[in-house]
Parts: sequence; structure tokens; C-alpha cells
Amino acid sequence: MPGDSAVEEVELPGGYTLMVRGPGIVELLEGEVEVFGARISRGRRLQVPEGRVLPLEAISDSFLRSSAEPGEVVKGSTVPNSWAELAEEALEARKILVIGANDTGKSSLVLYAANRAAREGRRPAIVDADVGQSDVGPLGTIGMAILREPAPTYSELEPADAYFVGDKSPVGHLLPMIVGSRLMVDEALEAGAAPVLVNTTGLVEGSVGWALKVHKIEALRPDLLVLIERESELEHIARSAPRDVKIVRLRPPASMRKDRGWRMRYRAANLSSLAARRAPIELDLRSLRILNASSLVLEEDAELARRLEVAAGVRPVAAGRFGEEAVAVFRDRLEQQSFSYASAVLRSYGEPRIVTLDRLVGLYMGLIDGRGRFAGVGRMTDLDLRSGALRGEAAFIGARDVGGVVFGYLILDDQWQEIGSIRPGYFRSDRSISKYVFSTGFQSIPSSRAISLRPCTPMAASAASSSTNVPRPSTSSRVTMAAPTR
Ligand SMILES: Nc1ncnc2c1ncn2[C@@H]1O[C@H](COP(=O)(O)OP(=O)(O)O)[C@@H](O)[C@H]1O
Ligand SMILES: [Mg+2]
Repeated sequence: MPGDSAVEEVELPGGYTLMVRGPGIVELLEGEVEVFGARISRGRRLQVPEGRVLPLEAISDSFLRSSAEPGEVVKGSTVPNSWAELAEEALEARKILVIGANDTGKSSLVLYAANRAAREGRRPAIVDADVGQSDVGPLGTIGMAILREPAPTYSELEPADAYFVGDKSPVGHLLPMIVGSRLMVDEALEAGAAPVLVNTTGLVEGSVGWALKVHKIEALRPDLLVLIERESELEHIARSAPRDVKIVRLRPPASMRKDRGWRMRYRAANLSSLAARRAPIELDLRSLRILNASSLVLEEDAELARRLEVAAGVRPVAAGRFGEEAVAVFRDRLEQQSFSYASAVLRSYGEPRIVTLDRLVGLYMGLIDGRGRFAGVGRMTDLDLRSGALRGEAAFIGARDVGGVVFGYLILDDQWQEIGSIRPGYFRSDRSISKYVFSTGFQSIPSSRAISLRPCTPMAASAASSSTNVPRPSTSSRVTMAAPTR
């Protein structure tokens, strides 16, 4: 177990920085140490998260006790001068947006600049839109925290609010990503916080990265845009930025250490900390707002349900039309023949979509209160559409009542660890949405494979199975882009 590493006492001369790797606890026995701009005084204990490297910079000769894995010692600070200059500029800004690929130091820079502002007596906020590597709030959320004092690690920040997206990647969720970021920034500003520093996902490449970042710039209108580039991978984003936004271009800090696999461990640790607080819940869906699952808010069509039962030999738990789609929800996965017949029935009503609830055991979900504000996250274990009962577990943040459920995309085991996912659009009507919001990974039954209703016409095997199987990774060729309208 990495958490069981030995406790060591370390002497660190003033003017040197010791890098320690989490998980572990560091306690300052003597002296003065700074971490990302936050001063730590004697007796202070720091939690170094799994998958993170923390630079402990000794201001004066110091003595530490640490259970985190010690790394190298470097002379001076690992905080680049460019960060100090940026932190200075940030004091004059209201909104600062930080963009960079994975592992370019975004989270650390944001924390450092916020700490420096807090030291100057400001009330900075961090909006963490990196849903896959959440520093503030649960995994898959856009979290917001206001700093009352400098914080050496993110684990010391309590989220003031969050917006549930439900996945570890923004792909397929560009609308919630933009809306959530804007809502959290507005909320921080309304609470009197400034500067508001916004961290983002490492998705910068290609047309999806471009669309996400450029629209985020549009929606947030930052007065300072920080681009952290290894080479010139952000050029396409810089070129589309409004002319009146001040752009600061930085290189990733030289002292950064890359460690393959840490991103996964960081996610696992985030989910474990949620699991440690979980409690059983039972919700009545009929009285709740349901988001992200159009298949659950269908207008029931009894005739369609009856025809589906005759064709498939199994009664659907729900059936109806949603826009141009004809949707059937079954409790369990259908046999291939039944699937083909059910698809054929649906096709005579619209674009066929078949959802099976057994695929959704362990689904990650967000809980919101009656006003749509974040209340917590949960894991669904059972969904009974007839009675409307949703059972599962939830970890609450704050003390808000549950007024709605936002379905997510990750599938979690009973320890809340990732064991799979459903594709964006499995549960939601993405067929048409995808044309407008760059959603990817949609699978439907190709219309060229349409079959007639006669019972013995076999459906092409590949078409049938590709629609029931676990989603394949989406390919970039599926991405469609709409021209921005002005
Ligand atoms: N200036 C720095 N000095 C020392 N370590 C750093 C520095 N910047 C980042 N790191 C470490 O490098 C790793 C990746 O940095 P991080 O800020 O998480 O990048 P990103 O958010 O872009 O993925 C982290 O473990 C972090 O503690
Ligand atoms: Mg990060």
C-alpha cells in the first residue's frame, strides 16, 4: 500500500525545496515552510493527496515529519518567476481563465495565484472546471471555493458550490461545461470574491478542444487569459480569442514531474473520499426534477408499449416518443432477436432508441435542490420506473434537500470506483443535439439496415449488436461542428 510508507524526520535548510509525493501527511516540527505561496507554521499538518507532488519550500531552516514519499531536494523555489509576475497581475483582474494541456501546472498555478491574492487581503475564488481531475468538489463537477486564507493544498478547500457534469471528460457535455463554468464564476463574483481564477480540463486539441475553450472564453469574458504551452499547441485557441482580452503565455514549470497513471489514482482517491461519506437514499422520481435522461421523461404511448411487447416478447417499462425519437426502456438487456424486432417496431414511430436499465446499475448521479443548486452526488443501485423509486447511495455536500437528479455517465462499483461508463447520449436524446453541440460517440441503428416488421426477417447481426454493446470509444470523425451563430 502506498499509504503505508514509513514516517521520516527530515531536515530542510532554508532556501531549499523538498518535493514529496502523496499520499501521506507532512507535519512541520520547526521552522517555516511555504507551499504554492501558502505559509505554513509550526505544528501544521498537511495532507498530500494521492498522485500529487508537493513542493515544500523552506523559508528558514526547518524540520519536518513526513509519511509522504520524499523526492528530490532543489535549491531555491520551484515556483517560476513568471508565476509570481502573473500573481501580481491577477490582483488587478476580476476573472482569470487558465488553459493548458494535461500536466502543464494549471492547478498549481491557480492555487498559487489564489494564495498570493489571499495573502494580499483579497478574497479570491477558484472555479475548477477540470471535471476529470477535480481539485475542488467531487469528480465530474465544476466546483467553486472561496479562499478565506491561503491553502497549501486543495484538500483544505471546502467547495461553496458545484455544478454536476457527471463524466471525467468534457466530450459530449460541452453545453453543461460552459453553462456550469459561467454559473460558478457568476456565483463567486456575486459572493464578492475577486479575483476569480478558473481552471479547465486539458482538452485543448482538435476541433472539440477548440470549440470548448473558445466558447468558454466567450462565455466567461476573462480579463486575463493564461495559456500554458509546451510548444504551440494553443495557437488555434489564441487566434480565436477576442482582441480585448489580455493574453499571458507561459511554459510549464521546469520542476514538474510527470508520473504516468497518477491521473487515474487521483480520480480514485476523489471517489474514495466521497464513498467514505455515503449513506443510503431512496428517492421518488415522480416528485423530482430529472435532468440528462430524456428516456425517463417520455410521454407514455400505451399502443407502442403493447406492440413492443408483442414483437420482443418482453414488456418495456416505458415507451414513447421524444422528439424525432421512438424510445423503449427495458429492464434487462434483450436477446438479439427481440432487440431486432423491438427496433423494427420503434422504427415505424421514429428514430429507434433502446435503453436497458440493467446497464445503469452503479450510475453516478448529481443531486440538486429544489432551486437547482448542488446538493451532493450519488450512485444509483436500482431504478423502478413503475413505482418511480430510485435507490442508491449519496454523499451530501452541505445541507440541501433533494429536489432533482442529474444523471451522469460513469458506472461505479460498491466502493465507488470507476468500472465503466455509458456513452453520452445513451440516456438522453443526443441524436439531434449532436448536430448542434459537438457531441460525439453517438450510436444508432443505421437506417440503411432498416428491417421490415415481418418476424422472420433477420437483422444484420453487426447492426444489432453494435447498438446493445458497451460503447466503443468515439472517433473524431463523428464530431460535427456547427458554425457559431452571431
Ligand atoms: N511549480 C511547481 N513546482 C513543483 N511541483 C509542481 C509545480 N507545478 C506543478 N507541480 C506538480 O506537478 C504535478 C502536475 O501539476 P498540476 O498543477 O496538477 O498540472 P495540471 O493541473 O495542468 O494537470 C502536480 O503533482 C504538481 O504538484
Ligand atoms: Mg489540474
